[in-house]
Amino acid sequence: MEIRIEIIGFGTVGMGFLEILNRKADILKEKHGFVPKIVAISDKIKGSLIDYKGLDIQKLIKILKEGGNLKDYGKGFYTFEEKNSIDIIEEIDSDILIEMTYTNINTGEPATTHIKKAFEKGKHIVTSNKGPIALFYKDLKKMADERNLLMGIEGTVLSGTPVFNLVEETFPPNSIKRIKGILNGTTNYILTKMETEGMSYESALKKAQDLGYAEADPTADVEGFDALAKVLILSNVIMGGDLKKEDIKREGITKISSEDIKEAAKNGFRYKLIGSVERDENDKIIASVKPLKIPFSDPLSGVSGAINALTFETDLLGEVTIQGPGAGKLETGFSIMIDVLRIFKKINKQEKK
Ligand SMILES: NC(=O)c1ccc[n+]([C@@H]2O[C@H](COP(=O)([O-])OP(=O)(O)OC[C@H]3O[C@@H](n4cnc5c(N)ncnc54)[C@H](OP(=O)(O)O)[C@@H]3O)[C@@H](O)[C@H]2O)c1
Repeated sequence: MEIRIEIIGFGTVGMGFLEILNRKADILKEKHGFVPKIVAISDKIKGSLIDYKGLDIQKLIKILKEGGNLKDYGKGFYTFEEKNSIDIIEEIDSDILIEMTYTNINTGEPATTHIKKAFEKGKHIVTSNKGPIALFYKDLKKMADERNLLMGIEGTVLSGTPVFNLVEETFPPNSIKRIKGILNGTTNYILTKMETEGMSYESALKKAQDLGYAEADPTADVEGFDALAKVLILSNVIMGGDLKKEDIKREGITKISSEDIKEAAKNGFRYKLIGSVERDENDKIIASVKPLKIPFSDPLSGVSGAINALTFETDLLGEVTIQGPGAGKLETGFSIMIDVLRIFKKINKQEKK
């Protein structure tokens, strides 16, 4: 069965998704009957591309890898001024809209408007964008449910390492009492370098910047804002909370010194920036982001480098810990892939009824 896909925001993750579609085309078709038809792409820098018959994915990847642009694809190209993302969402008929514009954790825009417009047009959504989900999950979920549409958000936490699909598909009827984990690869990399190589915070940060893990302005990572957005998502999506940013206590890693790390290690502990959300005895959701000393015996303590991890405390299984990549082109492209495939299977099932 063909599924019509529209892409809004086409950068690193978009390219990762296309590469997976290309590399896994045979298995996707043979095993799942999945044949993607990308009918439109709209990107602020690269422009917009429309082909109702479906864009040639291999041709597109080749052009982009050779340093070309959407314009070089030929027929169906428009500049962003001629046709912007909103025009595309309103004009194009598709089954799934994939939203991959940049994350804005203060306004959630432009993604929130894209997602709302897509729901109004009856399109399912897949996104790796934290902004709209951290800020407006309840409203967006309501819009989706009212229209019998699905919203895939796997890439918003731990990129392609399964979190939401895992919890939704394989955890019931467990009750999750607490989720805690390492939600930011950059800070985990810095803390690891400070411990294993005795680096100062400044040198470890510089190294993270040189390797492209940390931005020139590292505030979002090192002060815990990125982890906070993910804790907010875990609170509201998995734990059923209705928290706002201000409800979450946040502390970054900038006050931790090499001496603190050495002292902790002497006593069998390791510093980690831990995002945590739990229900207290009064059924209230409590969430925080802060550096904690974790005993060497805890699985989170052994997670080193730019890796993410989460421990779910459940009533039937006890503690379940997952770890895996929290960023990257293919890794986040994979998060888009699993959500698109899940929605495809649901549409397929409904059509067969
Ligand atoms: N990369 C990762 O490893 C990763 C991991 C997890 C989650 N995510 C999230 O996934 C999303 C995509 O990430 P990315 O790394 O692919 O970002 P990216 O490379 O910066 O690509 C985003 C693209 O969206 C474009 N854009 C901005 N506003 C737009 C608009 N109104 N309409 C259409 N296009 C617009 C941007 O153009 P301009 O540059 O001109 O603004 C840019 O080309 C982000 O929300 C990110 O936080 C990424």
